[in-house]
Amino acid sequence: MKIFDRKKELNNFTAKQRKEDHTIGLVPTMGALHTGHISLVKKALSENDLVVVSIFVNPTQFDKKDDLEKYPRTFDKDIELLKQVSDNIVVFAPTVDEIYEGNITSEAYQFDGLDKVMEGEFRTGHFDGVGTIVELLLRTVAPDKAYFGEKDFQQLQIIRKMAEIKNLPYEIIGCPIEREPHGLAMSSRNERLSKETREQAGFIHNTLQTAKTDFGTKSAIGIADWVKAQFEQHPLFDLEYFEIADENTLTPALKIQNNQKYRAFIAVYADGVRLIDNLRLN
Ligand code: PAF
Repeated sequence: MKIFDRKKELNNFTAKQRKEDHTIGLVPTMGALHTGHISLVKKALSENDLVVVSIFVNPTQFDKKDDLEKYPRTFDKDIELLKQVSDNIVVFAPTVDEIYEGNITSEAYQFDGLDKVMEGEFRTGHFDGVGTIVELLLRTVAPDKAYFGEKDFQQLQIIRKMAEIKNLPYEIIGCPIEREPHGLAMSSRNERLSKETREQAGFIHNTLQTAKTDFGTKSAIGIADWVKAQFEQHPLFDLEYFEIADENTLTPALKIQNNQKYRAFIAVYADGVRLIDNLRLN
């Protein structure tokens, strides 16, 4: 398996592939790969001749030093996992210096307010950091398609917006959330949960499913109040936010419009780990 750590070398390699008419998929990750990532890689492999998987824990998208330091790093395991999936994968695993060249800052984007709600409200500068690294990866690889999980649905919409405002001609593909047997959305952060918390964390998804059942009969505020009450009674999970929002604009749904698509979004703390999830409501 080819592993690149230099932007220039990866760029030369993908340019050569394109000249040979090979299509390229890009799957950006921060490593600690799990079944959710592998499902993105498999989808990318099914639609392209070659897939670039980037593994880079991006410092500019972390607003808390502690969170960045604790982010799991399992590089050797990740490579072994990818080797088992296909020979048509190349890995890009740069250092922080290679990416930021001594200036670890983000570009300030105008995301039309998509970054001002939910994750953006609770994680200062997070989406500018995501935009910066994803733009750099897209420009370096110049893929036909790039794949992102819908667990980070707000991130997906922001990446689409970034590609639009920067006129980047790469197709951005959203892929369904993969879940653990109890319903917890797969995430690299789940590794930091105790066994008990991890088993009980299906509570988050179950709550979203009840919200979905009630959507259409109860008001958005009524559902939000019910969700808050459920979490107040739960000893393991602290609710940070629950929001019903328009899928495209991410604005909170005050009045439900028949022709709009809505999603419920949630962020929860468990064992000091921040977990997010979402579910389409209609
Ligand atoms: O979703 C992630 O893992 C990261 O935010 C991404 C898209 C790889 C950018 O660092």
